[in-house]
Amino acid sequence: MSRRPVIAGNWKMNKNVEETEDLIKSLIPLVDGAEAEVVFAPPFIDLPKAVELTKGTNIGIGAQNMFYEEKGAYTGEVSGEMLKDLGVKYVIIGHSERRQYFAETDEGVNKKVIKALKLGLTPIMCCGETLEEREAGDAKSKVVGQIRKDLADVDDVTKVIIAYEPIWAIGTGKTASKEQADEVCGWIRETITDMFGEAAAEATRIQYGGSVKPNNVKELMGMENIDGALVGGASLTADFAKIVKY
Ligand code: G3P
Repeated sequence: MSRRPVIAGNWKMNKNVEETEDLIKSLIPLVDGAEAEVVFAPPFIDLPKAVELTKGTNIGIGAQNMFYEEKGAYTGEVSGEMLKDLGVKYVIIGHSERRQYFAETDEGVNKKVIKALKLGLTPIMCCGETLEEREAGDAKSKVVGQIRKDLADVDDVTKVIIAYEPIWAIGTGKTASKEQADEVCGWIRETITDMFGEAAAEATRIQYGGSVKPNNVKELMGMENIDGALVGGASLTADFAKIVKY
């Protein structure tokens, strides 16, 4: 089974509308014709402009979060319905920064994943261990536990993109070795096999994220269980196109 790699840029809380326009216009010709599926996930306020600028290109637009209710008294939240209405196709769910700073729980992540799928949005569901957990030998139990809880009761897991992001590698310049990254992505695939069966596990894409750069992307993407990358810092410059066309 061959899985098409998906390279997504998580812009985090960077770029206003004008800067978004500049970056997208500069990247469109550079990522054109890429073999990988290409996703940009700018901040909420930039989404309408990003969708407009990428119409007719090979770039899909993603949000960095969503809420699972459709509407109502949820100050500060944005619903999946609202994203869909804008023409957004992907949504990052359960990024470690949201779990750490905004108290996101596995239960909430699970509800968001299920809701995104119901709406036809592609969730990019993040998981990963801290340095302390890795050093204590708990990386496997942490990540497997997240997958079991966050993907519980999902109808079609093959429509979910899973992003393995070791927290110690995010924004630190310290990338997991290709063997470390592949090992954890392998544990994730085993867990998917156990939960949903072998065919589903074979078809589900698992990205690696954490200090992915033009000089390390190729070796990571060459690993058996890694089907793409979720890129932070390097997605904010022309480096992103080099990563996309690794
Ligand atoms: O979601 C992407 C991410 O957290 C990795 O960030 O800056 O290490 O590529 P970075």
